[in-house]
Amino acid sequence: MADRQSWSVKGTAILTELVKMMDVSAAESQLLGSLHDGAKAQTTAFTDAFYKRLLGHAATAEYLDGVSVERLTGMLGMWFSDLFRGNYDEAYAQQRLKIGEIHVRIGLPVRYPLAMLDVIMPFGEQVAATSSDPAKAITAFRKVLALDVALFNQAYEDNQLSHLADLVGGERLARLLLAGQ
Ligand code: HEM
Repeated sequence: MADRQSWSVKGTAILTELVKMMDVSAAESQLLGSLHDGAKAQTTAFTDAFYKRLLGHAATAEYLDGVSVERLTGMLGMWFSDLFRGNYDEAYAQQRLKIGEIHVRIGLPVRYPLAMLDVIMPFGEQVAATSSDPAKAITAFRKVLALDVALFNQAYEDNQLSHLADLVGGERLARLLLAGQ
């Protein structure tokens, strides 16, 4: 199997690449930024629904045992309102990647954060729908959310690849193994 260009994109270059790929325009950023206060007003409803879903499932509720849900609620609320911060640069992407890394370190399978899109998406779209241009705002919101999904997943892949590379003696070999070669 031939090496792929994407295999040579590493570290902060991944952030630059993803931000570029999502191509959130200045007009879209501005549109989302204008909804920041509206998003903040929705954070309690959002975090309530989020934790209700996690607590309703034994395998996810276990992760919240002995954790300050009050502290987490504040951080999750900020994560949500930041989707509408209106600036989606590399520093933003780095922050979101770090949040993904925190979940890697608690041993949380990635399927759970990904499944939570079912709760996140309608709240975000509801905020976007209050825009002066709802259709554009919803499209922009989906881009920004897709960026987060990619970054969350990147945190998991970075971790797995680095451990496998250590085991087999190199990242290229690790990638070939993962591709079933
Ligand atoms: C896309 C979905 C998710 C988002 C956006 C999210 C967001 C966050 C944020 C912003 C933090 C705080 C990070 C920090 O300390 O800077 C956090 C921490 C945490 N999250 Fe999530 N989370 C998600 C999914 C989940 C799921 C599915 C679980 C468990 C079932 C979970 C459990 C936790 C726990 C236990 C912490 C605290 C980690 C620690 O401080 O040791 N999260 N999350």
